[in-house]
Amino acid sequence: MRLISATSLEFSIGAGDLAAFTVIRDMAKPRIAIMISGRGSNMAALLDAIREGRLDAEAGVVISNIEDAAGLTRARQQGVETLVISHKSRAREEHDREIVAELSRRGVSLVCLAGYMRLLSPHFVRSFENRILNIHPSLLPAFPGIDAQRQALEHGVKITGCTVHIVDEQLDHGPIVMQRAVEVLEGDTVESLTSRILEQEHQIYPLAVSRVLSEGFGVKGRRTFSERES
Ligand code: GRF
Repeated sequence: MRLISATSLEFSIGAGDLAAFTVIRDMAKPRIAIMISGRGSNMAALLDAIREGRLDAEAGVVISNIEDAAGLTRARQQGVETLVISHKSRAREEHDREIVAELSRRGVSLVCLAGYMRLLSPHFVRSFENRILNIHPSLLPAFPGIDAQRQALEHGVKITGCTVHIVDEQLDHGPIVMQRAVEVLEGDTVESLTSRILEQEHQIYPLAVSRVLSEGFGVKGRRTFSERES
């Protein structure tokens, strides 16, 4: 299944005795939205990758459910539109319907959760089926949910890491797009492990988004594939 289609403009040049020929040109980059609740370092990694040309996309909007999320300042400094849509005193689905409407209005083709601390309603997930990504600081399916780094340390694993996955209706569960392993060292604390995993998160999130946006990317059951990579 092809997920994202490029917007193309088709026009013809040439006439007279010469056969007309057609040029097909991509007119628009895929527009992504980034959703945050806090610091936004993964958001910044995505925006940096776009600015530096490593990620061929347009940052359409950054949405936060928290008014004073630190990441919002950084997004604004980079000239990206920001929206605060508070979840306070609202049913989950009503909140999500407003977000979905704003995303649709902006022609967003991919939503990247980056430390967005809310479960998405089925309405949201179905509205952007296979077009919502999340980054999680463990090698899923190990250690879903909060405090994944602490869970890994307390379990005594020797290797953990981070995962970019497609969001489905279950927590930290959908098909995996990319993972990166991180060794747990003797004497690691939650803080030291968290910081080494975060470095890897910042590297793989732009790569994973790029993979999902590339032609030939698809999802089959729990597996993701890229025709061009095989
Ligand atoms: C990251 O560890 C991410 O994996 C998790 O939440 C944290 C967000 O950090 N989902 P930041 O806001 O991107 O700095």
